[in-house]
Amino acid sequence: VTALAPLRQQMAPYACQRRTPLLHSNQLLTEALETLAEEAGFSGSEGRSLAFTRAASVLKALPGRLSTPEELGPLPGIGEHSRRVIQDVLEDGVSVEVERVKLSERYRTMKLFTKIFGVGVRTASRWYQEGLRTLVDLQERNTKLTRQQQAGLRHYEDLNTPVERGEAESIGQMVQEAVQRFLPGASVTLAGGFRRGKPRGHDVDLLLMHPEAGREVGLLSRVVSWLDSQGLILYQHSQENSFTLHEGPEAPGSRDVLDRFEKCFSIFRLEVRGSPGAARGWKAVRVDLVVAPVSQFPFALLGWTGSRHFERELRRFAGHERKMVLNSHTLYDTRRNLFLPAASEEEIFQHLGLEYVPPAQRNA
Ligand code: CTP
Ligand code: MN
Ligand code: MN
Ligand code: MN
Repeated sequence: VTALAPLRQQMAPYACQRRTPLLHSNQLLTEALETLAEEAGFSGSEGRSLAFTRAASVLKALPGRLSTPEELGPLPGIGEHSRRVIQDVLEDGVSVEVERVKLSERYRTMKLFTKIFGVGVRTASRWYQEGLRTLVDLQERNTKLTRQQQAGLRHYEDLNTPVERGEAESIGQMVQEAVQRFLPGASVTLAGGFRRGKPRGHDVDLLLMHPEAGREVGLLSRVVSWLDSQGLILYQHSQENSFTLHEGPEAPGSRDVLDRFEKCFSIFRLEVRGSPGAARGWKAVRVDLVVAPVSQFPFALLGWTGSRHFERELRRFAGHERKMVLNSHTLYDTRRNLFLPAASEEEIFQHLGLEYVPPAQRNA
């Protein structure tokens, strides 16, 4: 019997049934497990990656610091391999396996390359196979780069410097002002990690909507053109809305895309006075702009608030436990053959029969 024992019994199997705060007591353990998750992802082992991510996520929801592996007891979602890693870190302060991964040429190179905006595991892996190891290698060997990757490389340092909350709020305001010019009454909502309470992040996720259905159509291209004309945009590529109910409820989550909203993946030029980038007077910041029709807004907000693992678990819970299909557009009940509308995130949790989890507790 340990201090964690009584609370451990409340550990529900799905991350969306748990409250996961931003700050928790097992940082060393979760970092070790997440390194292995990342490494598995780099090797294309999605299943193994997910297993380590799940184990880390369970530890993030523990109410206190784990001091012996025995305290874990029969926790859900922590497999043999993860247990071994946890034991090593608790006993020795480090896991030899994790340290070896962190030092390996492949892991370090994959990390370097995947930190380029527009470079995923597949591209990074191919470059590694071709013998490329550094950013200079990419340039010297005239590696073929997309326009997005070129921008990613050009702004590599800025884009890998965390975005501070104040910077995210400034960008939110810039977008809000542009939005008001073209569509008064439209709103701009800060989603992603910042909405979960993170003090800094890798980008700024903004959701645009208008309370009257249909008014939001055409807004994004006007906003982006205007910001661009003001010299505030260093890079952007937009995607049109491709959502249609007639494709059936499963369409959006399938293939490679997470959703089909009209959106813009961009790099903003943000004026900065403090460091970093102060000498230059500006800093490149990644911004995602997403437009949601009012009827889909709660689903979009839920989907774009994250964390990624929380979202994955919500969808898995919906499917396995409720026979429902959840995505960032709708919730569909396959038993009753109907869409379940919602005017708020709370209503979506209600439809799913889940206790409401506020954004600050979705850091799974
Ligand atoms: N997302 C999405 N479709 C995309 C990209 C992201 O639905 N094409 C969702 C993700 O599922 C996530 C949320 O948007 O829930 C935010 O994603 P991201 O910005 O990558 O991560 P954050 O949690 O905001 O963390 P960070 O601080 O690193 O930005
Ligand atoms: Mn193993
Ligand atoms: Mn984000
Ligand atoms: Mn994002």
